[in-house]
Amino acid sequence: MVRNDVLNVALDAGENPYLMGGYAPVDTEIDAANLEVVGEIPADLNGLYVRNGPNPRFATEGRYHWFDGDGMLHAIHLRDGAATYRNRWIRTDGFAADGAAGRALWRGVAEDRSANPDDGSRLRLKDTANTDVVFHNGSLVALWYLAGAPYRVDPLTLETVGADDWQGTRQSCVSAHAKVDQRTGEFLFFDYGPVPPYMSYGVVSADGVLKHFVPIDLPGARMPHDMAITERYSILMDLPLVVDPESAKHGRHALLFMRDTPTRFAVIPRYGSATDVRWFEADPCYIYHTVNAFEDGDEIVMDVCRFRPPGPAPVPLTGPLASILNYLRLDAFLYRYRFDLRTGTMREEPRDERNTEFPTIPVDLLGTRSRYAYNVSINNDFTMYFDGLVKYDLETGASERYGFGAGRYGSEAPFAPRQGATSEDDGYLVSFVYDAAVGRSELVILDAQDLAAGPIGRVLLPTRVPNGFHACWVPEEQLATAARG
Ligand SMILES: [Fe+2]
Repeated sequence: MVRNDVLNVALDAGENPYLMGGYAPVDTEIDAANLEVVGEIPADLNGLYVRNGPNPRFATEGRYHWFDGDGMLHAIHLRDGAATYRNRWIRTDGFAADGAAGRALWRGVAEDRSANPDDGSRLRLKDTANTDVVFHNGSLVALWYLAGAPYRVDPLTLETVGADDWQGTRQSCVSAHAKVDQRTGEFLFFDYGPVPPYMSYGVVSADGVLKHFVPIDLPGARMPHDMAITERYSILMDLPLVVDPESAKHGRHALLFMRDTPTRFAVIPRYGSATDVRWFEADPCYIYHTVNAFEDGDEIVMDVCRFRPPGPAPVPLTGPLASILNYLRLDAFLYRYRFDLRTGTMREEPRDERNTEFPTIPVDLLGTRSRYAYNVSINNDFTMYFDGLVKYDLETGASERYGFGAGRYGSEAPFAPRQGATSEDDGYLVSFVYDAAVGRSELVILDAQDLAAGPIGRVLLPTRVPNGFHACWVPEEQLATAARG
């Protein structure tokens, strides 16, 4: 963690906290087996934990923004009580072009992008595929927050297969947070961008062919991030965080929050047309991530992490990176919406006050009623660190927190069901944890029914996993299918 008293000195010297400490990129790709285990890897925990995140290969010209870095996947495969780790950059078109040039060809989101090369990103920013990773149709799919190509990656080798054109049917980009419905195998997604209709929505079949695609008309260019699904509907967002037209004229990608403009939610039947969309207005807010949504009679219930403006930084920040650092501080709290499809009315209410985000649930319950959510708790100093996990019981409102310990910071922690599980929370939470004292990372395995007991097992890694974004758990049975396929 960068200390308060040295931060402004570092900033004035041009050093970037998002390239230091737990954020510093790693410069090697490794495979590591026979890893040291403290405690044990449960015999009924078999599968792959994989996490995406930015890891710049070359120094960029101008100010580096944490979201700019080339996507790198870090995966740990647990099988029969043993663990192997590997990390690989995602071989995007931009990554290959940088490699051929031997330097970073793109400037990042905080700089003038007008002279950047064109790799198909409508914003003339490098599509890094660095944001989310999901498992669909036998492989990993890496996705980018500004909407890019869905990059397929082999789950066992982490080799990039390439941008998927869905057997010639793809006609748009894909935002970071697509949803895989485990019941049908479908991949539901939205795209958004700088030109009308500003958003579109689609469904890809279990075997990877686009089978539904419709425009979603928004009043202007927006910055949506996530969506939600139920068994019959998808929920999309028109959030009043807009692309600032003035900065766009100067080649920059600045955002503007319109605090008097309502947030709107589009509820569309899974295979609905544009005219089937039902809009629900709510209090103005921004939302990064949804927890889950489900149908409850005539209502759709959707839980989210609702953003609130972070308080002032511990001391005022100076230097050219101050605005980036302020923008990247994250404060959000658990919040519930209920959309009544019969009356067209909407209710909303906070469910907790604490700053938690990056929620996970058992992926096989996505779109159906689920009881538990597992969020990271956020330590907002100057840079964002995940200092613990909170398990929420969404039915009773109860919660339980586990702290990673002093100087230890985690990643998004997916729920990994125990093989033979008999209840929703019968399983484990897995997270990379960076230990600042030793400068290395480990995998921490927690019992989802007893976070307070601390780790069942810790798998010590020979390297550091830089702080990053989203992760997923792929059960061994699905990996086996991928290997055969
Ligand atoms: Fe995200």
